Parts: sequence; C-alpha cells; structure tokens
Amino acid sequence: MEKKQLDWSNLGFGYIETDARFVSAYKDGKWDDGAIVTDANIVLNECAGVFQYAQTIFEGLKAYTTEDGHIVCFRPDLNAARMADSARRLEMPVFPEDRFVEAVVETVKANAAYVPPFGSGATLYIRPYMMGTNPVIGVKPADEYMFRIFVTPVGPYFKGGAKPLTIKVSDFDRAAPHGTGHIKAGLNYAMSLHAIVTAHEEGYAENMYLDPQTRTKVEETGGANFIFITKDNKLVTPKSDSILPSITRRSLVYVAKHYLGMEVEEREVLLEEVKDFAECGLCGTAAVISPVGKIVDHGNEICLPGGMDEMGPVTKKLYDTLTGIQMGRLEAPEGWIKTIL
Ligand code: PLP
Ligand code: COI
Repeated sequence: MEKKQLDWSNLGFGYIETDARFVSAYKDGKWDDGAIVTDANIVLNECAGVFQYAQTIFEGLKAYTTEDGHIVCFRPDLNAARMADSARRLEMPVFPEDRFVEAVVETVKANAAYVPPFGSGATLYIRPYMMGTNPVIGVKPADEYMFRIFVTPVGPYFKGGAKPLTIKVSDFDRAAPHGTGHIKAGLNYAMSLHAIVTAHEEGYAENMYLDPQTRTKVEETGGANFIFITKDNKLVTPKSDSILPSITRRSLVYVAKHYLGMEVEEREVLLEEVKDFAECGLCGTAAVISPVGKIVDHGNEICLPGGMDEMGPVTKKLYDTLTGIQMGRLEAPEGWIKTIL
C-alpha cells in the first residue's frame, strides 16, 4: 500500500479529510449493518436532536505504525466501553462494544495510506461519534441515531511538542457535580470553549479546572487529565467523579506501578499542594503526556522545579514507556494492542 504524500513530521493537530469513514444508522430500535463510505458530509433535518439539544457524544483514540511496520491501535475496547457509558448517560442507544472495535479496525484499514510512518512523530487520530438525527422539538431523546468514525493524521496537540506549557487556573467550571464531566459528551466541550478562548487570549495553553463545589481541588484541563510527580518519585493523579476517566491516565498508572516500580496515589489533589510537586503533566490521547512548567493562579505563579525547557525526568520515563508500548518497542500488557494490519 502506497502512503499519501503528506509532510508527516510537520503535521499539527488538525483535520485532514481522508478517503473513507464508517457509518451506521439506528432506526426502529436497531442498528443497521454499517458500511465504509466516501462522503465526508452529513445531511440532517434542521430539527435533529443533535442540533437542538446537543445530543452527541464522541471518542478519541489513535492508530500507530510500529517499528516492525504493523498498524496497531491502543486499547480500543476501553473507548468502546466509555462510549457505551456516554450513550447511557445521554439516553442514546449503545453501539455494541464489539462492533465498535470492528468498525475502528475497518475504518483504519480503509485509510491505511494515511497512517503516519514509524518515527515521523505523527499518528492517525480516530474519532468515533454518535448523534441524534431525527427531528426533536420537545426536550426528549431522539429515536434515530447515527454512529460514525472518521480518521485524520495528526501531529502534536500543543504547538512546540514536548516543551513545558504554561496554564492558568480557570474561573470557569467545566462540569457540575453529578453532571456529565465523567462522560465524553460534546456539551462538556461547548462549556469549555469560552474558557479556552479566554485562556489563549491571555497567553495560556490550557486551563486547570477546579472542582466547582469547593474550588479547592484539581480536576482536569479541557482535553486531558493531570499527573503529578512528587519529590520522592510517586505518581499522584486526581480522583474525581466529574473528570473524564482518561484511558491514557489509567494506562500510566499501570505503567508506573508495573514497568517503573513507582508508588501511585489516585486521590483528591488540592490546588494548595501543587506547589510542592516536582513535575506536572497533561495526559490524554491527543496530549499523550504534555509537560506543564508553570501554573498561574490569579497572578500567583506556581513554577514546577523542572523549569520551562524540557520534560522532567520521571515524566520522560513515563512518556517513553507508554509510547514504547504503543509503538511496539516495548512488550505490552495482555490485550492493550489491537493489530489492524
Ligand atoms: N479529559 C478530557 C476532558 C478529554 O477530552 C480527554 C481526551 O480524550 C482526556 C481527559 C484524556 O482521555 P484519554 O486518555 O482517554 O484520551
Ligand atoms: C482526545 O485526546 O482524544 C480528546 O478528545 C481531547 C480533545 C481535546 C482533542
């Protein structure tokens, strides 16, 4: 298979239309067989549930070219399970988890020419999503849905790659207690758009959201969970019912314990204690692990000891181990890698 002629090493995190996408429709209480199609556009009624009441959820995962030339993806079963949780919370039908994984495989196969080569620094971002498609005007769930997957080759989420970021403590909340922060619903991201534009205008790369109830505990950013490293090399990561259960974070917890022999604490993290950590990073599919050098809390600068030049040493070890597993350089735990081609 011949690869597309793209400038792989200079890709940003953007949308590039590829040749093929997967579509399945839900009607009369059941999903159809689904198919790979070429049209990237969707035509829907003006009153579709997705337009009126934002009934839409999504997922994000990546496909990688391994050192020995295979195409693989990372823990797609966990994306399938999380999408099922998101669907249940928004009163949408679950797209069966095994079919989700099969559809990811089919879509990546159909777009193999777009999977960036090993060593290019780029990966294929996979975006499964689902929306309510029939007209809904009273506030209620739709009866008909579409599940789709598109892919797009991407580079680093944050410009500057592995350079430490400066972020701010946000005055806006991303999610409410007992709300939808723990699922991947489009509405959570709509909620965060004003906050992210504000942060960017002020020169920050991202927001640190606090728990809305007490505004004392670290939650997450708009698109990633936090990890912290203590001065005695423990991994600490916030535990909260209103953050997204990041698959990257859950994988890093395992990697820290079982590959690097680190102690791990998954617990509430107070904003007040952040100044005492040695390293801080943002973790997620898009972010991978992006180091944070400085956190600004209303003029008060919290500077992580690692500085602003490079990723801290423990974060780097976690990064190298995780990406080593994803790209086939290191042996993966059972079931983590799904070989596509
Ligand atoms: N938190 C939010 C709000 C996200 O959008 C994402 C991205 O998916 C993450 C965390 C990281 O999750 P994952 O590691 O499963 O990509
Ligand atoms: C992901 O990491 O997959 C996300 O959905 C985060 C988003 C900010 C791109």
